[in-house]
Amino acid sequence: MSNIKIAPSLLAADFGNLQRDVEMVNQSEADWHHIDIMDGVFVPNISYGMPVVKAIKEHATKPLDVHLMIVDPDRYIKTFAELGASVLTVHYEACNHLHRTLQAIKAEGMKAGVAINPHTNISLLEDTIKDIDVVCLMSVNPGFGGQSFIENTYEKIRSLKAMILGKRAKTKIEIDGGVTSKNAKALVNAGADILVAGSFVFKSDNPTQTIHELKEIVHE
Ligand code: DX5
Ligand code: ZN
Repeated sequence: MSNIKIAPSLLAADFGNLQRDVEMVNQSEADWHHIDIMDGVFVPNISYGMPVVKAIKEHATKPLDVHLMIVDPDRYIKTFAELGASVLTVHYEACNHLHRTLQAIKAEGMKAGVAINPHTNISLLEDTIKDIDVVCLMSVNPGFGGQSFIENTYEKIRSLKAMILGKRAKTKIEIDGGVTSKNAKALVNAGADILVAGSFVFKSDNPTQTIHELKEIVHE
């Protein structure tokens, strides 16, 4: 359990002080910068685009974990590679040819992630699991920060973990949405490897300390 990663989601950062917030993550015990890209079509919200990711990259010292909540993500794989993404996650529900998309992400030198919505069954990943570096289990409906965690996620983590072990895959499990100090340990116990946390980190009085607390909880 010593390698559990914490990925603060910059969606909850103060965009007027983005450099400050990116530097806070740099100096904290966090592992990745989680970057949410929303197109207003796949999800009802629009977040930010390439110029903002470029600005984040100029200050970030940790890997960029880019979560694309967009239709037809294949069109932007090369762009996000050039912007410096280390992990590029596409939505299962947005891909007609997921296997091809995963190969294209890897061909650009990035780790390939697949996010699945709360309504999407884990079993649909069975035929691609060995090609997926990170499965991002959405524990809220994607599109907004600050939503309540969906409890059914624990069962999905356990099923996914069993599939990964059964297939001898090396896939990591990331949980995205509603993560707090209250559910972090239980998520890790169920099999999570990476926890994304937006509001819980950035809306706290001391984000650096909050990241420290999350790290302590998951490593207890
Ligand atoms: C939701 C995004 C999340 C979001 C999480 O669509 O994918 O990464 O920022 O925010 P919290 O932690 O506030 O639920
Ligand atoms: Zn996300």
